[in-house]
Amino acid sequence: MQKTDYIAVFDSGVGGISVLRHLRTLMPGERYLYFGDSANAPYGSRTTEEVRDLTLAAAQKLTTQYPVKALVIACNTATAAAVKEVRAAYPELIVIGIEPALKVAADNFPGGRIGVMATEVTLREEKFDLLLHRFDRDCTITKIPAPGLVQLIEAGKVDDADTEALLRRILSPYVGKLDALVLGCTHYPFAARAISRVLGESVVLLEGGGGTARETRRRLLAAGLLENGKGETKILNSAQDEAMIQLSWERLNETE
Ligand code: DGL
Repeated sequence: MQKTDYIAVFDSGVGGISVLRHLRTLMPGERYLYFGDSANAPYGSRTTEEVRDLTLAAAQKLTTQYPVKALVIACNTATAAAVKEVRAAYPELIVIGIEPALKVAADNFPGGRIGVMATEVTLREEKFDLLLHRFDRDCTITKIPAPGLVQLIEAGKVDDADTEALLRRILSPYVGKLDALVLGCTHYPFAARAISRVLGESVVLLEGGGGTARETRRRLLAAGLLENGKGETKILNSAQDEAMIQLSWERLNETE
C-alpha cells in the first residue's frame, strides 16, 4: 500500500458525503474515492444479510478497481451489519466504521435525555445494543426510527415542506423532552435545519462524522500512510445517473 492510494468512502447513497466533508477538512492532502450505492438505497429497511452482501460487494468493487489504502464505511447501517465481515475479508486494509455518537452525547449531557435517530437496521443490531448499554445507566436514551427520511434526502429534499412534515410526524412526541439528538445515520445531518425547526434550537444535534475522520487520521498516521499531496476527490454512484453525482457534489460543496 502507498501513501498516494485512495481513501475509499462508502455509503448506501449520498449520506456518507457528510463524513467525507469532515475527512477533507481534516486531511485535505489525501485522495478520496466516494462510492454511493443509491441504486440499492435505502439499506436501513433491508435484512441484515442483504446489507452485509451489498457492503461486501461495494468493498470488493472499490478495492479491485482502484488502489485503496483505507476504507471508511460512512454508513451506520452498513457498519452495524457488516464491519466485522469486511475486516475479516480484507485483513491488510485499514477499515473504519461509524457508529451513533452516543459517547459524545453521554459525555456532554451527564444524566441527560438523549434521543438516537437511526435506521431500523442500526437500531435492531446487537452492536447498537452493546453501545446503548455502555451509556444508559447515566442517561435516558430513546431510540427513534425515522422510516422514509433517507428516501427524501436521496431525492434532494433536505429542507422542504415534505421533509419537515415527515420530521414533525417522527419527532413531535419528543418536543420539549430531549437535551440532545444523536443523528445516527449519515444522511440525517443534511436535514439538520429542518430537524432543529421541529425540535427547537436548544436541542443539540450530534453526528459521528468528525470522530470518524479523526479515527481515520489516527490509523493512517500509525500505519505511516498519511499523504500530504494536492488532494483529489472522485465521486461514483451505482445509480448510473449523472443527477446523483451532481447532488453528491452539491451536498459536499454546500457543507464545507
Ligand atoms: N446513511 C446510512 C446510515 O448511516 C443509512 C441510509 C439507508 O438507510 O440507506 O445509516
